[in-house]
Order: sequence, then C-alpha cells, then structure tokens
Amino acid sequence: MSEIESRLIENRVFFPNADFAKNAKLSDMSEYMAMCQLSNEGYEQFWAELAREFLIWHSPFTSILNDQNPPFYRWFEDGMLNASYNCIDRHVRSGNGDKVALVFESDDGKIEKVSYKTLLVKVCKFANALIRKGYKKGDRAIIYMPMSIEGVVSMQACARLGITHSVVFGGFSAKSLEERIIDVGAKLIITADVQVRGGKNIPLKKAVDEALTGEASKIVKDVIVYRRTGIEIEMSPRDVFLDEIIESEEDYCEPVYVESEHPLFVLYTSGSTGRPKGIQHSTGGYLLHSALTMFYTFDIKPDDIFWCTADIGWITGHTYVAYGPLATGNTQIIFEGVPTFPDAGRFWQMIEKHGVSIFYTAPTAIRALIKASSLNQRVAPENYNLKSLRLLGTVGEPINPEAWVWYYKNVGGSRCPIVDTFWQTETGGHVITPMPGATPLIPGSCTLPFPGIDAAVVDETGQELPNGKGGMLVIRKPWPSMIRTIWGDAERFKKTYFPKELGGKFYLAGDGSIRDEKNGYFTIMGRIDDVLNISGHRLGTMEIESALVAYEDVAEAAVVGKPDEVTGESIVAFVVLKSKRPENVKEISEKAKVLQNWVAKEIGPIAKPKEIRFGDNLPKTRSGKIMRRLLRALAKGEKIQQDVSTLENPAILEQLSGT
Ligand code: WTA
Repeated sequence: MSEIESRLIENRVFFPNADFAKNAKLSDMSEYMAMCQLSNEGYEQFWAELAREFLIWHSPFTSILNDQNPPFYRWFEDGMLNASYNCIDRHVRSGNGDKVALVFESDDGKIEKVSYKTLLVKVCKFANALIRKGYKKGDRAIIYMPMSIEGVVSMQACARLGITHSVVFGGFSAKSLEERIIDVGAKLIITADVQVRGGKNIPLKKAVDEALTGEASKIVKDVIVYRRTGIEIEMSPRDVFLDEIIESEEDYCEPVYVESEHPLFVLYTSGSTGRPKGIQHSTGGYLLHSALTMFYTFDIKPDDIFWCTADIGWITGHTYVAYGPLATGNTQIIFEGVPTFPDAGRFWQMIEKHGVSIFYTAPTAIRALIKASSLNQRVAPENYNLKSLRLLGTVGEPINPEAWVWYYKNVGGSRCPIVDTFWQTETGGHVITPMPGATPLIPGSCTLPFPGIDAAVVDETGQELPNGKGGMLVIRKPWPSMIRTIWGDAERFKKTYFPKELGGKFYLAGDGSIRDEKNGYFTIMGRIDDVLNISGHRLGTMEIESALVAYEDVAEAAVVGKPDEVTGESIVAFVVLKSKRPENVKEISEKAKVLQNWVAKEIGPIAKPKEIRFGDNLPKTRSGKIMRRLLRALAKGEKIQQDVSTLENPAILEQLSGT
C-alpha cells in the first residue's frame, strides 16, 4: 500500500456558509452525527423509516432486510411499488402536475419544457405502445439514446411496466452494444436516428443495425426509433418509429406494481476482466437512495433548478437525471450537447439562462473549462451571472484541490458549498459525501459517509486500519441501494465484491482510501484493480487489451494509465505486432492510428489509447508475468529505479521508453 500513502496534505478548510446552513436539512455536524447515531442504534429501523417517508408503497413491506443468504441481500422484499409512479404520478396527484419536470436544451440551443402532467402522458403513451407490442414485466430492453426527453421517457416507460432496462451510452460501439444485447437478453431496443453533439450528427440507428447482424439479431424482436433529426435512415421490418407507434395510444397507463427487489435496471460497467459486468439494481432500495441523496446531499428544495450534466448512459445519469430529481418532484435541466460547444462558456451561459441553483458535474469537465478559460478569458465563468447557484457538486473521480478551489471561487462565488460525492455504479447513489449545510469541507476529500453507510478502510485481511494509514475501501453493512448481483453471473458478483479474505461480508469498493488523522475524513486514492478512470468513465485495462489483441496483426498488448491534466488518466498501450515493428515516425503514427480506430470500433471512442508504443516484446518476469508497474513508470516518462535484473528481457525497457 506504500504507493497509495503518498498524497498531498491539504490544510484548507471551508466552513458551511451560514446562510446556506440556516435553511439546510442538516445544519450542523451535531445533526449529522445524530442521524448517524440513529442508524447505529437501530440499523434496519433507520432505513425502514426512510423508506416509508420517501417512497410511496402500493403495499407496505413488513420485512426490512433479509440477510439469510449473504451477499444476496434483500431489502423491503414483501413491499410492492412502481418506480415511475413514485417519480411522476405522485406529484401530479398531489397537485404539482403543472410544475416543470424537464427543461431540455438541445445542442443548438432550442429549449423544450415538460411539466409533470405532460411527462406522465408521454410515459403512459410509450408504455401503452410497449404493451401493444407484447412487452411485460421481466422483459429486458436496451436503451441506446441521446440525452433527450425521450431518453428519460423510455427509461420511465420501462419502469412503469416492470421491464428491466439497460441503457448503453451512445458513445459505445456497435460491438459493445451487441455484447450487451446478448448478455442481458434484450428483446427490445429503443434508439434514435442520430445523436447531435457539438454540431455533429452521430449515427445511432446505424450502430444498432450493425449490432444486429449476428447472434443478437436472433434475440431482438423490435427496434423503436426516435426521430431526433428525421434524416433518412434504413428501416427494416423489425423497426418502427416512436412517433408513429405512440400516436393513437391512450394518455394513461396503469403502473405495474413490482416487488421491491424487482430489477429496475442492469447497467454495464468495466471490471478487471475483459468482459463488462451487468450491475443489477433493485427497484425499492435503489429508488430510496436516489430520493434520499437528492434530499440530503443536494439539500433539494421545491424551487431549485437542478442540473446534473451526466449522460443517461452512466449511473450518474440514472440516479441524478432519470430517477432522483423526479422522485423528489424537482425541475431539472437536460442537456444534449457538450460543454465546449459553441464555446467553452456553454455551461455558465446555461446556468445563467435557466437560473440553475444546484450544479453537479465531473472534475474532468471542470479541469477542461479551467484550461479553456485560461486560454480565452471570454469563456471564463466571471463573464456570466451565476448568482442563482447555491450548491455545487462533483462526481466520478478524485478532484484535485486546485480545481476544487477554482470551482469554489470562480463558479460558486465563494458562497456555494461543494459536495464531492464518492460513489459507484454498484452503490446506486452517494455513499461518502459532505452534507452541505453541516460538513466543513476540505478540498480533495469526499469527507464522511452518508448516514447509515458503514464505510471503513481495511487491510488485506479485513482489519480496520487506523486513520492516516492507506488501505482498501469497504462498506461493512448491506445498504438498500447496493448492487444485487452481476446479471447472469452470481459467482462473479460474490468473488468480486465480497471476497473471502475479507470474511465474505464486506463490500469491496475497489478503491484505495485513507482517512485523515484529525477528523477521519476519507480521501479516495484511485482504483486498486485494473480499472482506469478516463474523464470519470470506467474502463478496464483488460477490456482494451482484449480489443487490441483481437486485431489480426497484434501479438500482445498491455495497457496502463498515465496521469493526465484534463482527463485525470489517459490510456497508454504497449503493443507487440506480429509483423515487423514500425520504426520511423511516419510508420509508427500510421500504425498507431489504425489501432486507435480499431479500439474505437471495438469498444467506443472513449477507449481509444491516447498513445501507443511498439516493442519487440513486453517486459516480463522469468515466469512470464508482464511487469505493469514498469510499464506505468515508462508511460509517465519516469526513470526506472527498480532492479530489473529479474526481467527476462531488460533491454526492452529502452525500446518502450518512448524517447
Ligand atoms: C471513482 C460513478 C474520487 C472511483 C458515480 C469509483 C471517485 C469509480 C469519486 C466509480 C469521487 C467516483 N472521488 N473518486 N468523488 N466518485 N469515483 O461506477 O474510482 O462510473 O470506484 O460511478 O469512480 O465509477 P462509476
């Protein structure tokens, strides 16, 4: 663990702003502690009360936690509810039907607002069309959509019928899409003609067609296509246009009530093997934590204008776009485009235009915008009126203290608390995060666990480590929004997340962490497995390596991460070709381009290695193990300090040094 013990000591403390605290749900640390205390005294009762307070149950639960078969925990299992009812109908029924639910801004700046009442109609019409096509509870649908009202409506319509959705990020390739269709067994695909980002049309339907040329075509029965631009696309007898199938459907559709444990969705994420894992979430427990964290972490109030910039293809876009803000009945912004189009002032301009009060984004976006505004003063946040903001948040990767302070001062006007929220696809919602009216903030630290989350730092045997010692982050007790299993692979679920070495009962997050000696605050030090974090997106090194070796001329490949100023980490691939190693600059760059495009096609553009180095072989121990530590050092351009005499082929280091 020596690698993860070195870190910057950060001494600046930012206390909650008094005005903010006055009206906050938790307005000082004693209130936070009291809530933690409550969860300690009666753990199950604590969650049960929140589940009754935050969700509407069609039939109430009597069993809180079933832990008979760990780690397959079941929460509120005899309760019945519907996620879409909890996100939409309840607000219409309580008289808030005219409140704006979604404010959509397109890439080219057009705005469309949807009230809760209209959202209900849209979701119901869609659901009725799905019923007409024969879909029902237990079926699976793949959603491959742009950021759009229709994207959210698709998810909600599936939820309304108990159809388990699996959203695939629009940036993933046809090949990735195909793998997910097969793994989840989706009979239905919901997609769009294209997605529009940064002024460009990126085809989606075409990728679906490509994904449906092999095995997946035997599984899929229907492809529903939302016409985003209406450009001409090829349609087969299996394909229908969304507008056409909903046209004559009724405005109302009875929700299908499901058991609390019914899988609301499966979302694929990278792990340490070549195959992505389908993370399965429940309905009740997941929805509870979405609403709960909206309420406490974001301190959401009825008049807030909430904006989470994440795409619905990621977990953040599930919990804090498609479900959370609707569950709490709020107004939110949905943005189709990218932060740098038409220029890097887009976020600030949109905050000003829509009066955004809570803004939640990724450190990589902040770093990119810091860079952009240092190059061009005109796009700096100072040029915009950002007075509507009252709370800021970050997610997805560690935020470096300098970026934190810039965000705090230049965007938040030194008045808005920042919630640095640590969580994962598997945790469903925030698990370590400040409470904005209570927690003193230290840049770079996600501070303390959400009340009820028993997070700890342990060694390889599961022993808790004292503050100041780096180790593995675990959560020791089951919590309602936790991952239920890996779709179709319960064994892998058990092995990956509840390893025997830790007693089989601790959830292993896969991140290194250290707690501050003085106050116990958590700092996340990055993944301890072979997962990279590129712009806040998870990618497995194995996944990229498998893609590379699938190329006919590649004999061997090893992928490592290298620190990157903007994207956090960038991908460096070391490749051994079957043919002759390219030697001159032109040959190298041509071959690298071919492989970069190959990976983009295999996985998606986000997985493209930034740099590819070619060698005659890779540094290996005599037993044949690739020395990744050495490759990481080479990628960073560091001098190799370590004794390399045990290497099979020490001379290779020179060749791979990239100089
Ligand atoms: C990282 C995103 C530091 C971490 C919600 C985790 C963070 C992985 C933070 C999960 C944070 C997320 N500080 N690191 N505030 N939030 N991470 O599944 O490595 O896409 O394991 O979920 O992102 O990524 P995922």
